[in-house]
Order: sequence, then structure tokens, then C-alpha cells
Amino acid sequence: MPVGTGQKGKRLRDDVGTEPLSDSLLAWYDAHARVMPWRVPPDQKLAGVRPDPYRVWLSEVMLQQTTVAAVRDYFHKFTSIWPTVQDLAAAEDADVMGAWAGLGYYARARNLLKCARAVVADHGGVFPTTRDALLTLPGIGPYTASAIAAIAYDEAAVVVDGNVERVMARLHDIHEPLPKSKAVLTERASELTPAQRPGDYAQAVMDLGATICTPRNPACGICPWRDPCAARAQGTAPDLPKKEPKKPKPTRQGTAYVARRSDGAWLLEVRPDKGLLGGMLAWPSTEWSVERPQEAPPIAADWTQLPAEARHTFTHFHLGLTVLVATVPMEAQPTRGSFMPHADFRPSELPTLMRKVYDLTQGHAPLWP
Ligand code: ADE
Repeated sequence: MPVGTGQKGKRLRDDVGTEPLSDSLLAWYDAHARVMPWRVPPDQKLAGVRPDPYRVWLSEVMLQQTTVAAVRDYFHKFTSIWPTVQDLAAAEDADVMGAWAGLGYYARARNLLKCARAVVADHGGVFPTTRDALLTLPGIGPYTASAIAAIAYDEAAVVVDGNVERVMARLHDIHEPLPKSKAVLTERASELTPAQRPGDYAQAVMDLGATICTPRNPACGICPWRDPCAARAQGTAPDLPKKEPKKPKPTRQGTAYVARRSDGAWLLEVRPDKGLLGGMLAWPSTEWSVERPQEAPPIAADWTQLPAEARHTFTHFHLGLTVLVATVPMEAQPTRGSFMPHADFRPSELPTLMRKVYDLTQGHAPLWP
């Protein structure tokens, strides 16, 4: 029987079948663990190799709201420029924000730096070793603290991300929709977390969710948990987890100004730390609001409007930015931002929205000096 709204999922006892559920999953993980640059594979872990907490922390922060495929290159870039937490703590803010550009959710990058500096200043450059102590660091919330404690230190912390929620909802055939069902899904995840190899177990559930127990077309036939899975028995796996309908996103409007000086320098600003794209390099723009804002441009110029707008979707709204471009003389003084010499300007250091604005201007090269 499915577990309906307001009910707790029926407990799956560890002794269903002949072995604890974690054992069959760990056996599957030993054979099928995904290879990841921050991961110590299970055979090496059994041989005594310990994961580097710095790499585990960095990967887990990058993986929040972001796919493994998108993270790989950024992880390689960060660990080659800043191989240790001490290196990262000593980095310039602008270099870290620039290296993060394109990954999104930029508060993560600002907190990353704060956290690295706190680890160096307050913990002698060594990551704390327990979930509770990790929780005291900037930018480390319950998920990240549990993931680092489990993966780096083999604490039996309960790690629950979207993959784990999906696997638990199916294993226990829980029909209560997310986000209401979070507590019961966490409870179910907690009951299954083993005392032995909790780090490998946490990564195994995430791998299972990413490769077999996928949102659409789950590969139940080859799942190590196909026998105990209640949703498989009921034929409900593809419909779970249920989710409350999302609120529709409003569309906001704004104008971005791309001014280029006659020596080729670009008018750019660093956005305020608080707010969207905080701390990132950006073209000066108006407020982004549902009512088109009326604000003065950042510099007096003869502006040309580009035919296409830059479109981008943030967590809570869609945005359409009208793009105005202009060339300005050497003596022109902006009311905000400052001119960056062309030689110092790397479009790859712009966040995706601002990169889209830049790309639109490139169809209009004749406008530039
Ligand atoms: N997603 C987030 N963290 C992960 C991890 N450590 N392994 C697999 N997938 C993940």
C-alpha cells in the first residue's frame, strides 16, 4: 500500500532478505562507483587511502544545485590554481570569483573564500573532523557538513540530497509530496545509514540516484535494491517523488550598458556582495524589476540598442535585459563602475548572464574602436 499524505512510510527492516540493505548497496558500489576527481575509489579506501577533506569540501560546495558534468572542469581549475586550503585562503577575491564564473549561485563562491580563511585562521588550516564542528564554518550547512563528515571522516552522518530523497521515496513508496516529505525521507535515510563505511554508503546512494534510480526511466531491472523496493513492487517508481506544483516565475526587465572607451577599455563594475551575482564582474545595469525601471545610464553617451535582448532564468524569476552599447571618449567619466583595459578583460570571468550580454555585443563589432 502506498504511503499517503501525512503518513509515515512503512519501515523497511534491515533484515528483509538475508543482509542489511546497506550491504547490497555497498557491494554494488564496490563494482560500479563512478570515477570522480575528488573521490577515493572503494578499493583504495579499503587499502587505507583517506580522502582529502579540502577536495571533498570543494566538490560538495560545487555540486550543490549543479551536476557532476558541469563541476568537473571547475574542480580541476580550482585544485590546479589552489591545491590546498591555504592557497585558496590567500587568493584574491576577484580571482576566485572569476574562476567560479559560469557555475552560478555565486554566494557559494563568496562563502567558499570565507570558509577557507576561517579554516586557516581558526583551525590551523585543518578542516574540523566532525559534522557539528563543520557546521560552525561559513557556507557549510547541514547537507555539506554531513557529506564532508561522512566522506572525509567516515562519520555515520545522514547525507540527504535530491538523489537520496528520490531513492528513499521509491524504496519506501512514499507518496507525500516534497518538500513536506523531507522529514520522513531524512528519517528513512537515517535508518539505513550504516556504522561501517558510511562515507562510501553516502556516495553509493547518490550514485544509485544519478545512474540507476534516475528521475525518468529508472533502470529498476539492474538496481541492487530491486527486491526490497516498494515502489518497484507497486509500479510507482517513475512517478516518485511527488512534488508540490511550483509557483510560476515572473519575468523581470532591465537594461545593461556596455560602454567601450576609445582606447578599447570596457566599463565594468563589481556587483555588491549582497544580492544577485554578488561580488561578480558585471556590465552596469538598471534594477531588474517587473515594471521596466527608468534610471540614468552609468555614463553619458550616444547609446545604440541591440536588436536582441539577453535572457536568463534565475531561481525565482526570468530576466530580459535590453542591451545598449556605446563608444565613449577618453575623458568621459562614469557615475559608476570603472574602465578595465582590454588586455585585462577576460569574458570567461563574467557570470553567465553578463557573458550573454557580451556575446550579443560581438555581433556588432563595427561599433567598437
Ligand atoms: N552529488 C553530490 N555529492 C556527490 C558525491 N559525493 N558523489 C556523488 N554524487 C554527488
